[in-house]
Amino acid sequence: MGKYQYHIFICTNQRADDDERGSCAKRGSAHIRDFLKKTLYMRGHKGKIRANQAGCLDACAFGPTVVIYPEEVWYSLKTEADVLEVIEKHVEGGEIVDRLLIPKPWAKPFNGLKIEG
Ligand code: FES
Repeated sequence: MGKYQYHIFICTNQRADDDERGSCAKRGSAHIRDFLKKTLYMRGHKGKIRANQAGCLDACAFGPTVVIYPEEVWYSLKTEADVLEVIEKHVEGGEIVDRLLIPKPWAKPFNGLKIEG
């Protein structure tokens, strides 16, 4: 195992208001990042699970975009409830949350975890 059990990246890229691609920042990714980091800390994961903000991850249409390694599972997390579900099921339970996956080709099964469909 690497230094961390899980390493989570949250896109906080921001683009100009007139950029048609939009950005995760415009879709609330700073709040998602803060809530995710605070929740990991409060649930005792400090030092075991690392969450870092990232620049554009090339899945802008699905933002806020979050990717979890080592499995490289891509999620679209729009609400605090989404974040809580991923922490409880994926991070703590080892179960991929199908309903929040970013559609393939970004969502990849790996490392023994299974994605249906
Ligand atoms: S702006 Fe977040 S994935 Fe591109």
